[in-house]
Amino acid sequence: MGAASWFVLHDGHMHSPPTRPHAPACDRNREPILGVLRDHFADRRCVLEIASGTGQHAVHFAAALPWLGWQTSDLADNLPGIRAWLAEAGLPNTPPPLVLDVLQPAWPVVAADAVFTANSLHIMGMDAVEAFFRGVGRVLASAPGGVLVAYGPFNYDGRWTSDSNRDFDAWLKARDPRSGIRDLEHCNVLAMAEGLRLAADVAMPANNRCLVWRRGS
Ligand SMILES: C[S@@+](CC[C@H](N)C(=O)[O-])C[C@H]1O[C@@H](n2cnc3c(N)ncnc32)[C@H](O)[C@@H]1O
Repeated sequence: MGAASWFVLHDGHMHSPPTRPHAPACDRNREPILGVLRDHFADRRCVLEIASGTGQHAVHFAAALPWLGWQTSDLADNLPGIRAWLAEAGLPNTPPPLVLDVLQPAWPVVAADAVFTANSLHIMGMDAVEAFFRGVGRVLASAPGGVLVAYGPFNYDGRWTSDSNRDFDAWLKARDPRSGIRDLEHCNVLAMAEGLRLAADVAMPANNRCLVWRRGS
């Protein structure tokens, strides 16, 4: 941890600079997700993370999985926060973040053989979810054994897996009617259209899942 990027406030505690956003959920879910990534990214070289958010996941996973290059991306507004986390961590395997809106017609060219996203598919509208899978298909098209890992809440056959997910879905839709928890089956149809086969569906704490798709048979 770079000492120069921390400072002491009047309460006597060390604080990170205010430019570094912090999502408490990332602190809670990063270890369970890491367990899945250790298994499924063991043979991967470069991960494109879509919707990196704060950048907290990126620095945690890139530090724990040092054989990977970890390429962050998000909408332009989120890049300063991601840059702040990457700068503070100073890791050798985290290139600068890319602007990537999954709806943009041309995605940046990244030589990735894996894609990771967390808590993004229920935020995006359905048009963006469809664009996400098409874009991931293009990214992984030339990567033998390409892997996609998507973390978050998912429904099965249109049904919530818990009361808390039902409430969360209602909250999401009240905030933005385009948002909502996605059906695993629908995501799987979109993934299969890109040559991706569901390889694992791992239960995570708090009624979340880690879905893993892999190219090939
Ligand atoms: C709930 S946050 C999750 C952030 C982070 N992955 C995490 O787990 O904390 C949803 C993210 O989706 C991103 N997002 C929303 N629409 C997007 C789009 N069209 N293309 C790319 N990212 C998008 C947002 O900018 C935000 O970073």
